Amino acid sequence: MFNMAEKLLNSSRNRFCFNKSLQLAYLNDLAQDNGKLWFGTAADIPGTAEQTDKDYLRILTNPKNFGEITPANMMKFMYTEPQQNVFNYTGGDYVLSLAEKNGMRVRCHNLVWTSQISDWVTSGTWTAATLTAVMKNHIYNLVTHWGNRCYSWDVVNEALNSDGTFSSSIWYDTIGPEYIFLAFQFAQEAVKKTGKDIKLYYNDYGIENPGTKTTAAYNLVKELQARKIQIDGVGLESHFKVGSTPSVAAQVAAKKGFLDLGVDVAITELDVRFVAAPYYTAAGEATQAQNYYDSVVSCMQVGRRCRGITVWDFDDKYSWVPSAFAGQGGADIYNETLQRKPAYYAIAEAITGVPCTVC
Ligand code: XIL
Repeated sequence: MFNMAEKLLNSSRNRFCFNKSLQLAYLNDLAQDNGKLWFGTAADIPGTAEQTDKDYLRILTNPKNFGEITPANMMKFMYTEPQQNVFNYTGGDYVLSLAEKNGMRVRCHNLVWTSQISDWVTSGTWTAATLTAVMKNHIYNLVTHWGNRCYSWDVVNEALNSDGTFSSSIWYDTIGPEYIFLAFQFAQEAVKKTGKDIKLYYNDYGIENPGTKTTAAYNLVKELQARKIQIDGVGLESHFKVGSTPSVAAQVAAKKGFLDLGVDVAITELDVRFVAAPYYTAAGEATQAQNYYDSVVSCMQVGRRCRGITVWDFDDKYSWVPSAFAGQGGADIYNETLQRKPAYYAIAEAITGVPCTVC
């Protein structure tokens, strides 16, 4: 038997938020009122269906909803340097202009990653020296071109395996682990050329709870610091599965480990996917809401230096999940018809500490 309070709590994570002020709340407003620099979202624009979807754009461009946009694709290597030393800034410029028009920050994403690299890089014949020169040229050009229109750059993305070793990539396989330190060093030099304040981040998944991979990420930060190379923050992607996200305590501990090293953290790619349909049962959505709550509340609990929270797109209509993980979906905080899901209100609760059940 449920008592009344349990009933309300249960239903709050299911269908309704009984608290009028949270019902009407906007997540970036709440986040900025509660010490965060942003509540943000990834957006896969331009050149996609989103770009002409008025309902999508209305939500995306309302700064009450989002104080930050991360380009889901347009700043990646294959789009920005499609041919060697031929740079294309069009897509990135589009995102930056849209964000600036609406007073939003942009986390620029990303400079060095194993995926979405141009063919001329992956099919080239390189020595460590020639590929290092490619990497340096890419980093210098992007960082100096966009300057501090980028709040931050994800300098190196997803460089670690779950066992803490460095993952294979053209960069690692050709240059060795030094590529990571060189990438940050080049980014630091480029930032210096701009004379601006641009934060440099390491970004990865699987570092949201204490463990082997998280320890390896701590060691990476320590090594950069020992070499006096700039690293300002670590992005915890937080791509989770419904019902199996780390506990609040674990997520707090992992974040604190980074903060204790003197770097910022941010939740950079949050989504919580169903590994199988159906995606929209009351019970499933309640669990998902709790999972979102736990992650966001961990960012609140560690204080201001968990700078912000970004979801990896905000709606199931344009989610990256179904194409990346066959049969999986329902991962976002708005559904396929762009309606807010229980997870939305759970985030409002996590940010404010005000339960939806208080009328
Ligand atoms: C994803 C994009 O959302 C997709 O559109 C693209 O096809 C593949 O990449 N980790 C990251 C992001 O750091 O860059 C990835 O984005 C999702 C996983």
